[in-house]
Amino acid sequence: MKVGIIVYSNTGNTMSVAEKLEKALAAKGHSVEIKRVEAENEQSKPGSPVTLKTAPDIAPYGTVIFASPVHAFSLAPAMKLYLSQIASLNGKKTHCFVTQEFKKAWMGGNHAIRQISSACKTKGGSMISTGIVNWSGERREQQIEEIVAALSAI
Ligand SMILES: Cc1cc2nc3c(=O)[nH]c(=O)nc-3n(C[C@H](O)[C@H](O)[C@H](O)COP(=O)(O)O)c2cc1C
Repeated sequence: MKVGIIVYSNTGNTMSVAEKLEKALAAKGHSVEIKRVEAENEQSKPGSPVTLKTAPDIAPYGTVIFASPVHAFSLAPAMKLYLSQIASLNGKKTHCFVTQEFKKAWMGGNHAIRQISSACKTKGGSMISTGIVNWSGERREQQIEEIVAALSAI
């Protein structure tokens, strides 16, 4: 089954995890692709409306993994907007992970995961697994390994 890793990444942290995951999934024999969500107005001020330059189609994938950074204690606005626009997730398996700077999941990570899960539910999907990487935390590498191990075992 084809796996799509749909990534929004501004400074590269989330993308670096997605690339490790892509390698691990490919090594297990999965057909896997990374597709980027890109915003037109990356550098705009917080609170200003976001528009998308690239919004990947999820139709080709049986399994979809959404990955995004946390912005302002929430899901990054570009990923939030993207998820509101995607087609139905009916019949697809969905997973997600987020990266955040702060050390604690309650400083935005948990909220962002809830937002992705809720957006997927609205589109007829249900979240099978989730992960958070606390970028400044001591367990960062372990968290990345755990996400890669869990998701590459799908
Ligand atoms: C506008 C903005 C707001 C952010 N807000 C938070 C936040 O509320 N909590 C947090 O832990 N990290 C926050 N961060 C840090 C990012 O979530 C973190 O650096 C993430 O790993 C970046 O991922 P990326 O390199 O894939 O863009 C924020 C970053 C930006 C640019």
